[in-house]
Amino acid sequence: MITPDADWWRDAVVYQVYPRAFADTTGDGVGDLGGVRSRLPYLAALGVDAVWLSPFYPSALADGGYDVDDYCAVDPALGSLDDVDGILRDAHALGMRVIVDIVPNHSSDRHAWFRAALAAGPGSPERARYVFRQGRGEAGALPPNGWTSLFGGSAWHPVGDGTWYLHLFAPEQPDFDWSNPEVREMFHDVLRFWADRGVDGFRVDVAHGLAKDLSDPLPGSSSLSMGPVGSMDAAPPPRRADGTDPLFDRDEVHEIFAGWRRVLDEYDPPRSAVAEAWVPAHRRALYARPTELGQAFEFPLLESPWCAAAFAEAIRENLTLAASVGSSSTWVLSNHDVIRHTTRYGLPPGADAVAWLMSDGGDPREDRDRGLRRARAATQLILALPGSTYLYQGEELGLPEVPDIPRSALQDPIWVRSSGSRKGRDGSRVPLPWTSTGPRFGFGPERDGSATPLPQPSWFGTLSVEAQTDDPTSTIEFYRSALTERRRRFERAAMCSIVEHGEDVLEVRRSDGVRSLTNFGDVPVPLRLAPGEVVGLSSDPSAPIPGDRAPMLPGETTAWLFDNGAGVTHTYAADPQK
Ligand code: GLC
Repeated sequence: MITPDADWWRDAVVYQVYPRAFADTTGDGVGDLGGVRSRLPYLAALGVDAVWLSPFYPSALADGGYDVDDYCAVDPALGSLDDVDGILRDAHALGMRVIVDIVPNHSSDRHAWFRAALAAGPGSPERARYVFRQGRGEAGALPPNGWTSLFGGSAWHPVGDGTWYLHLFAPEQPDFDWSNPEVREMFHDVLRFWADRGVDGFRVDVAHGLAKDLSDPLPGSSSLSMGPVGSMDAAPPPRRADGTDPLFDRDEVHEIFAGWRRVLDEYDPPRSAVAEAWVPAHRRALYARPTELGQAFEFPLLESPWCAAAFAEAIRENLTLAASVGSSSTWVLSNHDVIRHTTRYGLPPGADAVAWLMSDGGDPREDRDRGLRRARAATQLILALPGSTYLYQGEELGLPEVPDIPRSALQDPIWVRSSGSRKGRDGSRVPLPWTSTGPRFGFGPERDGSATPLPQPSWFGTLSVEAQTDDPTSTIEFYRSALTERRRRFERAAMCSIVEHGEDVLEVRRSDGVRSLTNFGDVPVPLRLAPGEVVGLSSDPSAPIPGDRAPMLPGETTAWLFDNGAGVTHTYAADPQK
């Protein structure tokens, strides 16, 4: 059972479920809410505190469900509102909270409001809920300006009457006009709809996009592209980083979220929220203010190369910024928009991950063993940090990206809109393998012998939940142990200092007595334990060995050192001399 706790989100481990790829109960090849519900005991046993459900709303799937037809309903292919209620009941009974995804920048073009806007014609109040503008040139044949969409191509779509509407993403995702009070009211009602049902918090999609200044035709603005980790909006940041960019991270957006906070605070306990805002670091904390969403995703670590100095810098910055507004940090290494971190760390330094995807994973060569070794070490490192950790489904299996999905099966709008020059994000959205063999590796029954829409590779079974369970060296057991120890040993309000030892070793020194040491190098380094300290969990199951008094920390490994009960004096980290 969950216990009342207004601050649960501050140090929660949140597991992101991408419902269509999680578990399927009907055999149509698409994951559903029944599948999520049936696997809640698995998530509870894994040891997570909360589940974040990516969109399950009715959708034509022009953008994986982030094109929402109705914010207060469930896609019939995924289930019904009863299933959401069932998930809430079961999750709460199992001690887990539930967060849902809210997509406020745009609806889908099938949303009742957008249909009404098209029917009502230019100048109507219905159109004023979206961003329609007269086209340029004769009869408005040209787009109002040269803005391009994040998925490629123009950000404007003509509707045949000389006007065009704005879509920062796919044409099927018309942007709302947030200066319209009706839009604000509608989303307040959406928040209440889910909060009334018992949802504990919200993940706010493209939070930095809502406020726009259409009078400012900054040339080329919004032509954001795939970032270094394969995400579509990771880089570059808004052209102007001072709140005056016409499309992103404008100062007015904060007034919108202050309104949201008032709604979230109508509940007891207040509902939590976390902003997805790809903005420069100094602007991010604004979204996380207690008077706004309370928390914001911090992506710099996700974008950091495998290097102690880069990690140290990103971690220090995150901790400082979150603390500056009374929030807590958010640690993320994978999500449904980026190349899985096992793969990122397995590619050679500086490799162009997007080009690697285009080569079907052939060039450069991915070193999967090394990638997994580093991924486990990085995960254990972020789990040692104060704040909350967001895990993405399948990372507990060490799943790498699937780079060779047949081009004919790709679903991400990025693929089509970039004219086949970028594959997009499907490689992280392949249905999970639950069993080693059998139909769809246990993802769901096979109704017609066909593959799932994004086909699972033949090697998926070897990484399945079944294959890894009870193997003490497996990644899933490593996650279970790490989450268990985190619960058992870590205090919520713990502070930490980040200490670098030489070029390769990073220490997280927590005020609750736990130390975490990560060796980013290849060469083992000696660990000298402080009096009263013992080796606890290691991301390398073979070393260092608990109980060893002169242990070594292997390369690309994280180890946690615990107080054995006698009281620790922190005098030593890893040997800087190596
Ligand atoms: C967010 C989502 C991403 C989606 C985009 C447009 O960045 O995480 O998956 O494509 O918003 O809604």
